[in-house]
This record gives sequence, C-alpha cells and structure tokens, in this order.
Amino acid sequence: MARHDATAAWARVAALASHAAWLWKVRLNEAPPRSCCTWVQILEAIADAAPGPGPPAGGVASVTSARSVVRGPAIICDDDYTAGRVLQAIVPRVLRIGVAKEIKTDEYRVALTPAGARELVLKGHEVLVETTAGDGSSWSDADYERAGAQIVSVDDAWSKAELLLKVKEPITSEYPRLREGLVLFTYLHIAADEPLTRALADSGITAVAYETVETDDRRLPLLAPMSEIAGRLAPQAGAYFLEKPLGGRGLLLGGVPGVAPGRVLILGGGIVGYNAAIIALGLGAQVTILERSIDRMRHLDEILSGRVSLVMSSTLQIESSITEADLVIGAVLIPGARAPKLVTRAMLSEMKPAAVIVDVAIDQGGSFETSRATTHSDPVYVVDGITHYCVANMPGGVPITSTKALTNATLPYVEAIADHGLARAVACDRALARGVNTLDGKITYEAVAEAHDLEFTPLEDVLPLTPA
Ligand SMILES: NC(=O)c1ccc[n+]([C@@H]2O[C@H](COP(=O)([O-])OP(=O)(O)OC[C@H]3O[C@@H](n4cnc5c(N)ncnc54)[C@H](O)[C@@H]3O)[C@@H](O)[C@H]2O)c1
Repeated sequence: MARHDATAAWARVAALASHAAWLWKVRLNEAPPRSCCTWVQILEAIADAAPGPGPPAGGVASVTSARSVVRGPAIICDDDYTAGRVLQAIVPRVLRIGVAKEIKTDEYRVALTPAGARELVLKGHEVLVETTAGDGSSWSDADYERAGAQIVSVDDAWSKAELLLKVKEPITSEYPRLREGLVLFTYLHIAADEPLTRALADSGITAVAYETVETDDRRLPLLAPMSEIAGRLAPQAGAYFLEKPLGGRGLLLGGVPGVAPGRVLILGGGIVGYNAAIIALGLGAQVTILERSIDRMRHLDEILSGRVSLVMSSTLQIESSITEADLVIGAVLIPGARAPKLVTRAMLSEMKPAAVIVDVAIDQGGSFETSRATTHSDPVYVVDGITHYCVANMPGGVPITSTKALTNATLPYVEAIADHGLARAVACDRALARGVNTLDGKITYEAVAEAHDLEFTPLEDVLPLTPA
C-alpha cells in the first residue's frame, strides 16, 4: 500500500471522527471490539490494528472485511481498506433518547408525545420513556410502546440515555443524575437559578435550554407555543374569576343582547397579547390592547381587522384605561429584563371593584406592583378588592394541549440532534447553538455567566460552529 494513500485515509478518519458525536453504524472490520462505545475507542481500535502514532501502514493489512455494528463514529471502510480508501462516513446513527417523567409540583406535561416517539423510532433511534411519564398528558405506557418506545425505570431513563428530553429544569433531587456525556434538552431558565447553573456546570453535562433557542430575527420558537397557550388561557381564567361566587364583579364578559359586554384591557400586544385578544373577542368582550411598538400595532390592526382598539402604551394611558376595565391582562415583555411594573398599587384603587387582573408576565416578575406568583392549586388572591391571578406556569394547566404544542416545536430540533449529533446540529443551526447553556463544565451562554458572575466560554471555543 502506498504510504501517501494510507496517510490520506488516516487524515480522513481523524477528520470524520472530530465531527462524530456519538452513535453510528460502522461497517469496518473485526478490529473494533463490539463493546466499543465511543469514537475514541473506535480510533483506538484502528490504531491498534495499525500500531504507531502515525497513519496506518502495513499493519492495516490485518483489517478484514467482517461487518460489525458498533457504537462509535461513522467510519465506513471499504473492504479494500488496505488500499487506504475510507468511503462514506455518514450513515444514520442510532441514538438513545430518554424521556424523563416531570416531578415538579403541578407539572403534568411530558417532553415527547407517542407521535414524536414514533418519528424518532422510524429514523432508527431508540426511545426510552420513563414509566408513567405521559400519564399527566393522557398517554399511557402502552401508547408509547405501541409507538415503538421502550418503557423504563427512572434510573434507566437517565443513565442509559445519550439525549434526555424534559419539560422543566431538573430539581434538586435530580441533580445527582446530571452527568458528563449526556445532552439535556429542556426549559432551564438558569439565569435565575445559580444552584442549578453550578450543578449543570459541575456535572459536565451538555444543557440545551428551550427558552434560549433563538432565531437570527430574534424569535424564540420554543417559547412561542407556551405564550400562545398562556395568552388563550388568560381571558378564560379572567372570565371565570369575574363570576360573583368566585369573588368577581359578577359580570359576563360577552354580555347578552341588550346588555353591554365586559371590557378587557391587554397590556402588551405580542404573542400572549394577540392570543388573549382573539379569545376575548370570541367571548364577545370589548377589547383594548396597549402596545409600545407602532409596527406591532400596524400588524395587529391588519390581522385583527380593526376589531380591537390599539392604543399607544404610556403611564397616563394605562391610568386612564384601567379605570374602565373589568379584566386586565398583563402581557408585556422586555427581552432579557424583568417585566416593567406598569400598574402601581395606587392605580388599583381607581379600578372597578372586584375587577380581575391576570398577570401572564408573572414569570418575568409581573407587570403589576402587587403581583406575586401563584400556582394552579391556589391561583388567586385579592389586593385592595382586585382579584389577582398570577399562575407562573399557566400552560401546565392544560397539559394535553401544551405537550402537543411543545413537542410540535421541539421535535425538529430533537431530530437534528439525534440524526447529526449535537456538534453538527449546532454547526448547521445558529438558533440551536444559542440554546447551548453549558457544555464540558463551561458556561456557554453569556447572560447566564453574567447573571452569576461566572466565567463565560463562547460555544465556538468548545465546539466547531462551521458545518463540515
Ligand atoms: N405565566 C405563564 O405561564 C407564561 C407563559 C408564557 C409566556 N409568559 C410571559 O408572558 C409575557 C409576554 O410574552 P410574549 O411571548 O407575548 O412576549 P412578546 O415579546 O411576544 O410580546 C411582548 C410585547 O410587550 C410589548 N411591550 C413591552 N413594553 C411594553 C409597555 N411598556 N407597554 C405595552 N407593551 C409593551 C412589546 O412591544 C411586545 O409586543 C412574557 O413575560 C412571558 O415570559 C408567561
């Protein structure tokens, strides 16, 4: 075998291996032991077959054409490997994807539907679903099994998975399960959670946060479905708590012929605000949106065909509009910042008695001075005669809808990671790259590092961000 041929082959193997993340079908030879499980081991096996630090030379002749399926990088060698030819590298990889059951209070969602499991299984991946993970969203273990997933214990879901899907951030009892070599894909919100940030970094896990997956035009595709749901729930919750026996004004938002409808005031006309508006309109209410962006108001005017009043938001305008409202919905967001306190306690006394506030922005601190986070089991409290509904995880109340909406949005990213490995997937998709918060013990999301005064390492320093 010509020395230069072998050199080229070896260089190709090394290049392929540097892009390989995990499981591949390898048609190689009998040299790599069947138990090998990482690309390092595969390369070591090749090196064993061709001893010496450099490219394989004469030793390669011992490599035969026996087929074996092993876990490692995609390195397919021709039967004629001794000629130094390394053929295609890319074959579908088999990834073991775990789905953990949510154990946080009041969380009934699950990170993958049986339909999503089916798609992944059809692509050749293994899906390990923790037993009863889907119960809260109405899917039984049998539903997942029919889709081709395996039902496993909590220990197996965490320890056997290479990619673990969750909905909420790990809670303290789950910290010991975090480990190097695992990719965790879930909502994290770690800028507000230093203990979790440290636990993730210390474990060496790769943590990809749904909420920081961000497109170049600054959309948040994995947050949007939850905003749609929270927005649509807000008028529903408000209408309910306007009923007299529940402490409300005793007013039907839609009115009836001969009786004027109720008034709904929405602060912020983004995704939550728009979705709140269409449901409030559907209930028959009279709707006003206060917004700060004139472009957004033009867009809303177009899509809502003039059925809502769109007014520039200002303190004076809020003071005036709030006096007429039966239901006020807080839906503002200033990206990367706490929600602005648009409604002060003093303004509450100017509101109609027993009016209702639904502060959807409570997860960012709330847009009412008197807001504090509540739960689905105890959703409201009263301040100065005004009912406050401030549930921080509103979509958790409708897990069937939320789970489907969430997995519709996450599945393409899950498939990209599963099919190509994290390194290639983030190299091909800047939005996904922005989702990586920790990797190899490093904090790769700047705002998180800043929030906790920890060292920031740009992702490109740890992973190549240029597609191969
Ligand atoms: N509680 C929950 O369960 C839940 C669920 C989903 C989203 N949220 C929260 O709802 C809030 C809104 O989310 P979104 O997806 O609609 O955000 P978005 O960015 O789509 O919309 C926010 C809108 O607020 C407007 N705005 C900013 N400052 C304003 C001001 N002073 N007056 C009027 N409008 C102003 C912006 O121009 C923007 O149009 C966020 O805080 C989000 O975290 C909460």
